[in-house]
Amino acid sequence: MTDTLLQYRDEFPILATCNYMISNSLGAMPKSVYTALHDYADAWATLGVRAWGTRHQNQPTWWEIKGAAGDNIAPLLGAPAGSVLVHENASIANSILLSGLDFSDTRRNKIIVSDQDFPSDVYTLRAMLPDFCHIEIIRNHDGITLDTDEILAAIDDQTRLVSLSHVLFRSAYIVPARAIIEKAHRVGAQVLLNGYHSVGIIPVDVTDLQVDFYIGGTLKWLCGGPGGVFMYIRPDLLMTLHPKITGWFAHQQPFAFDIEQFAFREDAYRLANGTPAIAALYAIQPGVNIIKQVGIEAIREKSIRQTALLIELADAAGYRVNSPRPIHDRAGTVTVQPDHAYEISRELLARNIVIDYREGAGIRIAPHFYNSDAEIHQVMQAIATIIADGSWQQHTQRSFVT
Ligand SMILES: Cc1ncc(COP(=O)(O)O)c(C=O)c1O
Repeated sequence: MTDTLLQYRDEFPILATCNYMISNSLGAMPKSVYTALHDYADAWATLGVRAWGTRHQNQPTWWEIKGAAGDNIAPLLGAPAGSVLVHENASIANSILLSGLDFSDTRRNKIIVSDQDFPSDVYTLRAMLPDFCHIEIIRNHDGITLDTDEILAAIDDQTRLVSLSHVLFRSAYIVPARAIIEKAHRVGAQVLLNGYHSVGIIPVDVTDLQVDFYIGGTLKWLCGGPGGVFMYIRPDLLMTLHPKITGWFAHQQPFAFDIEQFAFREDAYRLANGTPAIAALYAIQPGVNIIKQVGIEAIREKSIRQTALLIELADAAGYRVNSPRPIHDRAGTVTVQPDHAYEISRELLARNIVIDYREGAGIRIAPHFYNSDAEIHQVMQAIATIIADGSWQQHTQRSFVT
């Protein structure tokens, strides 16, 4: 069977230099980012300050690009135009959203998270919640999933917000979003999902899910690099938000320069603040465009096949697998945990096989549409060789990056 998606490999320079199996951390850079960043520099160099209001090379004006970039990403999460705004990172996007939620009903004092969420999500919650709120943490029991019944039982009429990852970053478990959202809405709570590990690798439809808020990034599966975090607000909720983290970009009349009056915009820019990092808004587009061109259905089909192959090879070698086996529960990563997984991961890196390691989980292997089956076999063969030749033993120092 020919793998037609391999035709895209030439677009990603790093694939010619290593075995790149880490698209759940930082997707490979498309070559066309060079052009995109050149376009950015060209707009700045030739238009100067006029770039804020003048289109250049078919790009939106710099004033519009934060929303236009959101509109470009929106179809990948089933969001309508005008409902997505791009921010620098999820921590600031969370903070903006939380600063804008209505906490006036003090009977709703419960916020539900899980111990498998990305820690920064919980850090921002702790920092932003009013004092009367408390956080209830749903604990993982098997190293892979969360118990659906436990989550649903925790959501009650005192719940203000359920904040969970749609896909867990350690195991790639797909959280049952629909059931959670339905229960939350039935008891009058809202749901914020982190879509960093879902959008770009599994089909997502925020409109169909009816989720209230959805925040994810282009950094990983969208091959967009840093600086492209998208925040979806369900359109009917936009006007209920009054962010305390704000700025002149959120003002209806920013050029009135009036310190006495502030009126929130009534579109996605309501959640904006100050001058965006424009270069990133150019750089994220090529990856997003390629993902749209390849198509999520084709990406998912290949991902299911390659993650199944990884599990099959790990089983054959006798390694513990810390990712779900049912395909409807598993997104794009397979986490394997042979003995000495950390040391093995360092030796894989030394051998130019790019993966990462997460404490308590293992070696995360994350093929994307541009990876070949031969590369999958190479990773698993390399783990076996490293165990057999004992070369993992030279890696005694722990590093804290990746
Ligand atoms: C699930 C998840 N959320 C958030 C982040 C990053 O958060 P931020 O955009 O604030 O750096 C990561 C990893 O980089 C992640 O895996």
